[in-house]
Amino acid sequence: MKNIALIGFMGTGKTAVGQRLAKKLERSFIETDTLIEQKAGKAIPDIFQQDGEISFREMEIGVIKDIARRENVVIACGGGVVLNKINIDRLRENGIIIYLTASPEVILKRVSSGGNQRPLLDVDNPALTIRELMEFREPFYQRAADITVDTSKLEINAVAEEIIIKLRENESFDFEK
Ligand code: S3P
Repeated sequence: MKNIALIGFMGTGKTAVGQRLAKKLERSFIETDTLIEQKAGKAIPDIFQQDGEISFREMEIGVIKDIARRENVVIACGGGVVLNKINIDRLRENGIIIYLTASPEVILKRVSSGGNQRPLLDVDNPALTIRELMEFREPFYQRAADITVDTSKLEINAVAEEIIIKLRENESFDFEK
């Protein structure tokens, strides 16, 4: 049975929606960032600070490689997973890719609440960085996406419901098997 991989910018709700979706579909939920932290034995900001982004991306590639071999799981990917094409190729081998979007304003609001666990947005002007990174990454996300859902105005449950509706419409995803 195919995996369901959630991609999208930071703050688009991949983790919260992924957990809800997994519950609704009675599947296991996996988050790539959590696996990377377990593997590295430290938190994401520490990996970025001590080892650098390139090391983080290498760990991300390794984790995706392992996960893509599994079946029937919901995967919340880190926002930068699309930057390495190999990740998307591997996720697609046995999975469908759901792209969650949100407006930059909504993203800023969401990532500003709670402590900042996102090293890429730990900058003087996060609003500007969000816009720049989103603009750069947009074509990568679009190219990878099988299904797209705008989460800006939706609650977590509504996003999960919309994904299920779109999965049912998608011929490459067989719900019953
Ligand atoms: C990143 C997103 C983060 C995390 C890391 C890098 C990115 O995950 O993987 O901080 O490059 O967009 P979330 O999208 O879950 O915040």
